[in-house]
Amino acid sequence: MNPRAAASPSPADAAFARHVAAEMNAKDKIMNTTTATNSNPAEVYDRFFVPALFAQWGPRVAAAAQIAPGDHALDVGCGTGVLALAVAERALPAGRVVGLDASEEMLGVARRKSSAIEWVPGKAESLPFEDASFDAVLSQVALMLFEQPVGALRQMWRMLRPGGRLVVAVPDRLENSPGYLALTELLQRLFGSDIADRMRPPFALGDEPRLRGLFVDAGIGEVAITTEHGPVRFDSIDAMISTERACVWTLGGLLDAEQFERLRRRARQDLSAFAATDGRVEFDMPMHVVTACRP
Ligand SMILES: C[S@@+](CC[C@H](N)C(=O)[O-])C[C@H]1O[C@@H](n2cnc3c(N)ncnc32)[C@H](O)[C@@H]1O
Repeated sequence: MNPRAAASPSPADAAFARHVAAEMNAKDKIMNTTTATNSNPAEVYDRFFVPALFAQWGPRVAAAAQIAPGDHALDVGCGTGVLALAVAERALPAGRVVGLDASEEMLGVARRKSSAIEWVPGKAESLPFEDASFDAVLSQVALMLFEQPVGALRQMWRMLRPGGRLVVAVPDRLENSPGYLALTELLQRLFGSDIADRMRPPFALGDEPRLRGLFVDAGIGEVAITTEHGPVRFDSIDAMISTERACVWTLGGLLDAEQFERLRRRARQDLSAFAATDGRVEFDMPMHVVTACRP
């Protein structure tokens, strides 16, 4: 099999791809706006999002994949490298760790963190490696953003040697992340659904039967899904909404200064249930962790 060939999408995959393509087109516009008016979105992501949301998941996903010294492991949609670094802690120096991402900006930040990890540009839908090259393939908070999630899963499965482990983590439904649900409802009241709905793509695979269906469509029949809790933490309500305003996958570039000021004033009241007396914000953002072992 040609290792660069993407699997052809199933009907379910194609329908989902159309939905995500619309989101990705909008995201690209935002990415340009963000780049022009702020700093590199990958730097923003690494500085603000990783510590608030995703740093805790790297070691957890690496543990779920039972990464051991000497393993060869691939992180798909590695971003700025939080999961690949946790995998490297366990697998290197005897093993091999590869982080792959479609964004050169993300890889640029990742490269500064480790030269022992191989940082490879590429698409999840056409992984540039031979069949059965890895003991473990991992991915966190990325599958719901891929253009063809089923095609990507087929490719990840192809990477595994017999006995190899696949672990994929995606956020649970928006309704189960109470702080983000409250923010989405506030955006709806203030600005309507065009802006409020921009909070939804990161949670697009939160519906468990739908998530399981993608793996079935990819020919990965036997999967286990656990839903694990994990806190989102910000220094303040202002920090939370400022971070979201800079996010290329949600509100990035959407709100002008007047709208942002209105949001800030109302958020201080409407999100106050999530702030402690010192102002720090904390709420649960559960993840579905899907594991499968290649026969
Ligand atoms: C929300 S970030 C998560 C990054 C990282 N896994 C983490 O935990 O911080 C999603 C990543 O998926 C990447 N991505 C999106 N579509 C992709 C595709 N089709 N192939 C490879 N990477 C993709 C983005 O560039 C981004 O770095």
